[in-house]
Amino acid sequence: MEKKISKKDWQNSMRVRVDYNNMMSEFLGDEGFTVKELDALKPAISVAYNTVQNNRGTGMMGWTELPYNQKEIVADIMATAKDIKKSCDNFVVLGIGGSALGPIAVFQALCHLRHNELPKSKRKAPKLYVEDNVDPERMQALLDVIDINKTVFNVITKSGSTSETMSQYLIIVDMLKKALGDKAKDHIIATTSSNKGNLIKIAKQEGFKTFYIPDGVGGRFSELCPVGLLAAAVVGIDIKSMLDGAAYMDKICKNKDYKKNPALAMAVLQYVAMKKGKNISVMMPYADSLKYMADWYCQLWGESLGKAEDNDGNIVNVGQTPVKALGVTDQHSQVQLYREGPYDKVITILAVDDYRAKVDIPQGCEDIPDVNFLSGHTLNELIQAERSATEYALTQAKKLNHTIYLPIVNAFTIGQLLFLFQMETAFCGELLNINTFNQPGVEGGKNATYALLGRKGYENQKKEMDEAPAKKADYIC
Ligand code: PA5
Repeated sequence: MEKKISKKDWQNSMRVRVDYNNMMSEFLGDEGFTVKELDALKPAISVAYNTVQNNRGTGMMGWTELPYNQKEIVADIMATAKDIKKSCDNFVVLGIGGSALGPIAVFQALCHLRHNELPKSKRKAPKLYVEDNVDPERMQALLDVIDINKTVFNVITKSGSTSETMSQYLIIVDMLKKALGDKAKDHIIATTSSNKGNLIKIAKQEGFKTFYIPDGVGGRFSELCPVGLLAAAVVGIDIKSMLDGAAYMDKICKNKDYKKNPALAMAVLQYVAMKKGKNISVMMPYADSLKYMADWYCQLWGESLGKAEDNDGNIVNVGQTPVKALGVTDQHSQVQLYREGPYDKVITILAVDDYRAKVDIPQGCEDIPDVNFLSGHTLNELIQAERSATEYALTQAKKLNHTIYLPIVNAFTIGQLLFLFQMETAFCGELLNINTFNQPGVEGGKNATYALLGRKGYENQKKEMDEAPAKKADYIC
């Protein structure tokens, strides 16, 4: 009789692992870090660890509890998704930043890579579009390919006032009302704060189905709440397994010993790297399915850690510039720079042990050995070889790099990965002694847009902008 695999065994076999050998001096010489150097930070690491763990579930750290406190919400999301699947061809997310990058990343990771192009019979779920820009050509292009009668629009904005999202809302609601009259409301779902902003007021007035973004969950930490879970459920992703994966990673990240806690270890290494002037963090997945995980990471890392002031009011101007790359594609574009350019980066490689497809390279070109050597191998072997080769080349050039291994890309491992990066960001923010969860720089840009477009209450900002020095023709050629 075949042995039944227990949930625990299955989960352990699905564990995401972090290999940071290539950050250590044993492998990188003077460019790498010594155990002694890292151990000297133990008091600071312990403070950062305790602060993060003590603040769980409070203030802007409500996201740590999302794997555990959403039973009823998940049931509501599943029921809503079931109805949408039955009645609709398209599900369109209108949102930006943290209200879009998570849904994009998870869709790419867990659905067929050509989901929207598959025939409906194979897709078995609506097409998904995530509209995170206000480029008029893009909006027009969307409207050219969808039938709004068969579309549900999910307007997502925590603040309920972001210009990009609210302008998209105005366009869509106008079209829906003209086409469907009173039935327009059945085509809009609002995901927003339950008590702040304009979208909640509008949703109540119009009678839209509404999901809430908890107060303690900021945009870039919101993929595991209705922001990301609804779109994921609509396209058939196992959202319970995603949350289970996050909870599993959370358990691992509760270890006090930084060498056994992947999020803490990565945070410590990045922190030391930053102290040594490595101010660029490259995220390089070797899988198309993880391509947009790098975009999601860029927002998380950049917006959380890029801060002018520390918690004591000192001007520190910290943060690493996050850069996205894709293996193997960027081996033929960026890797030359990563290998031979300045020692100013940490490269994080995302590796996948088992791809969900296997493609053989058939026999051919028998008379040309330099091509024929590829025959008999698989694309799987080729991509793994290229990843190992990049890792080797970077290490040989003494460039800091580490690899995160996913046994396979599935809902459970993606939940782990999201949670791992969120915890790493929280730990790193504490090591830097900054506020990880605000974004004054983003708010600044939002306010300037409101001023330029004449929003009430922003007159002073408009005046300030009008009084800024005029651009000089001398510098325009
Ligand atoms: O992480 C954040 O808080 C931001 O990037 C927001 O997600 C982004 O600005 C969109 O904001 P909102 O959801 O309020 O429209």
